[in-house]
Amino acid sequence: MTNCLIIGHGAREHVIGEALVKGGAELYAFMSFKNAGLEELSKNRISIHSETNFEEIILFCKRNKIDFAVIGPEDPLCKGIVNALENKGIPCVGPKSEAAQIEGSKIFMRELLEKYKIESNIKSEKFDSMEGVENYIEENGEQTIVVKPDGLTGGKGVKVYGDHLFSRKDILNYCKEIIDQNDSFILEEKIEGEEFTLQTFVDGKNVKGSPLVQDHKRAYENDEGPNTGGMGSYSIENHLLPFITQEDVNNALEDMKNVVKAIEIETGIKYKGFLYGQFIKTSNGIKIIEFNARLGDPEAMNILPLLKTNFLDICKGIINENLHFNIEFEKKATVCKYLAPKGYPISPKKDELVEINDEKITNLGAKYYYASVYKKNGRIYTTSSRAMGVLGISNSLEDAERIAEEGVNFIEGKLFHRKDVGTLGLLQKRIEHMNSLLK
Ligand code: GLY
Repeated sequence: MTNCLIIGHGAREHVIGEALVKGGAELYAFMSFKNAGLEELSKNRISIHSETNFEEIILFCKRNKIDFAVIGPEDPLCKGIVNALENKGIPCVGPKSEAAQIEGSKIFMRELLEKYKIESNIKSEKFDSMEGVENYIEENGEQTIVVKPDGLTGGKGVKVYGDHLFSRKDILNYCKEIIDQNDSFILEEKIEGEEFTLQTFVDGKNVKGSPLVQDHKRAYENDEGPNTGGMGSYSIENHLLPFITQEDVNNALEDMKNVVKAIEIETGIKYKGFLYGQFIKTSNGIKIIEFNARLGDPEAMNILPLLKTNFLDICKGIINENLHFNIEFEKKATVCKYLAPKGYPISPKKDELVEINDEKITNLGAKYYYASVYKKNGRIYTTSSRAMGVLGISNSLEDAERIAEEGVNFIEGKLFHRKDVGTLGLLQKRIEHMNSLLK
């Protein structure tokens, strides 16, 4: 029996835990607050502490003879959890901090891509003061500007002209706000196109892909409202998206392989773990928006339940640097809809009861995953972040969407979700948008 530790408390960690247990692992969970799904999957072998409390994590691993740990979120990765655990002889699925900079520092990422001439890179410039910012805007035009704080922002720090910033003054104010918080930032060109996520498994050298996913970052239907961690995502049974070709995927994967090589040359550290590429297809080919040193949330829910290959074997392959085998996925479509507390992400309703009709969801054939909710006296309550992920899996996108949407109705509380995620109507808009750019 393999004792596996999952670190993290959200829906991504819940689905990782599920895949580990399905693969035959004895699951243990270390999380900052109690995820009811992980509590059940691990048969209550849990520890509730901050996910960056490395001393506690090491003690928990030693006490429970953990064979290896899988790290879900970016914060502990960027702070060096893998360095700390591996120093104590606990193997990990996740990159060391030096390699995790690919997510932890936007400046590191763009400089690396530039230095190693990664095909899908875009123009950008770094700033650690306001000096030169006005010149950059003057030269490039304010309407093409994206501002990205250097450090981690939980997906909510990127501001784009026309979406969040509407004048030169807005751009300058936001840059100044970042500097006042002692962070640096990059300005990069705004890219028009359709986004897609490619999540990969990496053993230091081999980079194995998974079905493409499209996430929905805006809070409200028709892609309106503020940015969120992601309100839902879908994937299609042929593992592509209607506006993304196999050649685009091959190019994206090639760039990810080159980035993995570049990280090792640059830092001396092999990249091992999950590598998430957020790409955008433009009239000028695919471009990279960002890399994450982890699986996506919600996107992990679109790929792990489709695995035909044992996830435990994949994790061992990553650790032992022998991910030579094919990783197979069912040819099915998936739709994940996130339920978030009303008011999220601006003024979310916290500590509100969430009631889940497990029997009805299960009878429907949907799955659900606990995100940032906590359990108290046997009942589930909201926090200030996304609450529950509901997943439909079927032979077609239409049916997967129906299952997810019906499943959502069996979860009650002061919650909202985007009804349009995974609908054919929204997909058609994406296709038309892409076609108009490619004309
Ligand atoms: N869904 C976006 C992310 O996980 O970063």
